[in-house]
Amino acid sequence: MKRELVSRAFEVSFKAYAPSSKFHVGAAVRTTKGTYVGCNVENGSYGLTSCAERNAVFAAIGAEGGKVKIEAVAVYARFSGKKVKTASPCGACRQVLAEFGRDAVVTFLEGGQFRSMTVDELLPAAFELY
Ligand code: THU
Repeated sequence: MKRELVSRAFEVSFKAYAPSSKFHVGAAVRTTKGTYVGCNVENGSYGLTSCAERNAVFAAIGAEGGKVKIEAVAVYARFSGKKVKTASPCGACRQVLAEFGRDAVVTFLEGGQFRSMTVDELLPAAFELY
């Protein structure tokens, strides 16, 4: 299960548009109903870059609506074609993940190995409005 999600993240990392950083990220999000993927998309106007994780979450909502429940996430990254040692979701992506699944298990690369942590562990005391 976890392996399959990592493999979906790996596959979609090849779709990344990262001419600026050469850091190609793929993310796969599993909800109660399906699996959705996203890659990072950069822009010539640098500040407009969108991360792989958020793109995957937004694809899930586009398919299922805002009541979506995220159960698991996998992130994979390659830098100039090579697997990177560490790539955990950035702070902004953690906050977005928290909105749709605080108990979701996130698998990411750390020191060349895969590590899994819940969203709550990655972002304790997340901002909550709803
Ligand atoms: N990036 C992601 O896609 N996810 C993250 O969690 C951190 C960074 C992307 C943004 C940018 O295109 C590249 O990686 C380098 O920062």
